[in-house]
Amino acid sequence: MSPFLLTRTLPEDATDADLRADVLHGLTRTPKVLPPKWFYDARGSELFEEITRLPEYYPTRAEREILIARAPGIAAVTRARTLVELGSGSSEKTRHLLDALPALESYVPVDVSESALTAAASSLLDERPALSVHALIADFTRGLALPGTPGPRLVAFLGGTIGNLLPDERAVFLKSVRSLLAPGDALLMGTDLVKDEATLVAAYDDAQGVTAAFNKNVLSVIDRELGADFDPDDFEHVAVWDREREWIEMRLRARTALTVKIPELDIAVSFEAGEEIRTEVSAKFRQGGVRRELGGAGLELREWWTDGAGRFALSLAVAV
Ligand code: SAH
Ligand code: AVI
Repeated sequence: MSPFLLTRTLPEDATDADLRADVLHGLTRTPKVLPPKWFYDARGSELFEEITRLPEYYPTRAEREILIARAPGIAAVTRARTLVELGSGSSEKTRHLLDALPALESYVPVDVSESALTAAASSLLDERPALSVHALIADFTRGLALPGTPGPRLVAFLGGTIGNLLPDERAVFLKSVRSLLAPGDALLMGTDLVKDEATLVAAYDDAQGVTAAFNKNVLSVIDRELGADFDPDDFEHVAVWDREREWIEMRLRARTALTVKIPELDIAVSFEAGEEIRTEVSAKFRQGGVRRELGGAGLELREWWTDGAGRFALSLAVAV
C-alpha cells in the first residue's frame, strides 16, 4: 500500500469564519458578489465534473489534448520529483502527467474540496502503488505551507482556474506560487483563450442547465451552512461576456423583489427584481498577457502550447 496523508491546513472553524465573512461582505455591498470557491461542496464538485463532460464546455477536452501531446516534453524540462497541484479537483487530467514523469516520488494535490481530494486520492492510490500522495485541504490564495518533499518541484495549476481570480488577486497569487519554488523549479498553468462570444457564452450557459445548477449551488451552501432561506428557483442563471475585461461573468439574477434571511449572520438581504449577485469571473487570456503576468512574479515563460483548434493554452514557466 502506498503512503497517503490528508492534511487540513486550516481549522474547520476557519472555513466557517471565511464563509461568514465573504457572505456578510459580499451580500451587504452593491453590486453583490460571492467568491467562486464556495461552489465546491461535495455536490458542487460533482456538478463541476459533469460540466467537464458537456458538449459546450471545451476547456477540459482541449487541455487534456495538450497534456497528452506535451507530457513527455514537460517531463524532460522539469525532471520533477514532486508534483504539487493547486485546485486539483478529480485529478483526472493529471494522470497524463503522473504517467509521464519518470522521477516522480510525491504528488501533493491541494483543494478546498475534501470530497474531491479523497475521491481522487483513493482511485490514484489503487492505480499507482509506488506513488506517495499527500493531499492538502487548503485555500491556495491563503499562502500555502507545503510538505518537505524532494525537488525539483513542479506546480500544476490546470483547468484555467487562474481565470477565476481577479487581475490583482492573480498578481498576489502568482508571487505566492513563486515563493514555493526554488530557481529552476516550474509552474505548468492552463489558461482558456479569448475567442468568439457565442462559443464562450455557450460554455457557461449549457443547454442541459448543468452550469445553472452549479451556479445556484452556492445558494444551497449558504442555506445549509448559515441557515439562510434562499430558494434557488427565485434566481436565474446568467452568463455574460465582458469584452472590455475579456472575462465571462456568472451571475444570479433575482426573478422578483425578495428578502432572504441569514440567521447565522443576523441579517436580512433584500433584492430588487432583476438585481444580480456576481458569483464568478472566468478570465480568458492571450499569450502576451500571460507572459507579462508570469514575468511580474519572477516566472519566465518557456513553452506555450495550444490545442489544435487554438482554444486553450498550457504554459510552462520556470522560476528565475
Ligand atoms: N483542476 C481541475 C479542477 C478545476 S475546478 C480541472 O482542471 O478539471 C476548480 C478546483 O479548484 C475545484 O476542485 C475547487 O474545489 C478548487 N478551488 C477553487 N477555489 C479554491 C481555493 N481558493 N483554494 C483551493 N482550491 C480551490
Ligand atoms: C474551475 N474553472 C476554471 C471553471 C471555469 O471555466 O471558469 C469553473 C466553471 N464555471 C462555470 N463553468 C465552469
